[in-house]
Amino acid sequence: MGNITFTMIKPEAVEANNIGGIIRMIEDDGFRIVSLKKVQLSKQRAGEFYAVHKERPFYQELVDYMSGGPIIAAVLEKDNAVADFRELIGATNPADAAEGTIRKIYATSLAENAIHGSDSDDNAKIEANFHFSSEERF
Ligand code: RTP
Ligand code: MG
Repeated sequence: MGNITFTMIKPEAVEANNIGGIIRMIEDDGFRIVSLKKVQLSKQRAGEFYAVHKERPFYQELVDYMSGGPIIAAVLEKDNAVADFRELIGATNPADAAEGTIRKIYATSLAENAIHGSDSDDNAKIEANFHFSSEERF
């Protein structure tokens, strides 16, 4: 496998029927889907996934939000995957996101910002392994 990143389409974007539009943008930007599933995280699993933020004031809100409905989890492959994907999704706060980015188009607020993208190669591997076994990668 080449260079990978990990993404989640977050609950409010799934609820709003934006899965297809977001995946279209991801494929059109040259990413190949390695793994893909719809899953609802328990509060415990969401808390583990975002454990790096557990001292932040928004942690409980983030855990409740991310466990509040099904998400789409996916592993994506492309040269320079992590940085290119962060560019495609745009700034954390959609008010700051560049035109044409996924968050500019689909995010509704800083907290509910439509999509996750790994922030480093090491975290991409950790996050991909958190959601998918080696038998779920193609
Ligand atoms: P992500 O990890 O989901 O890709 O987002 P990110 O790197 O752009 O931002 P990060 O700082 O890692 O924050 C994780 C997620 O927490 C929510 N958040 N809420 N209410 C707030 O002040 C606040 N700040 C961040 C967002 O859902 C953000 O994506
Ligand atoms: Mg982050």
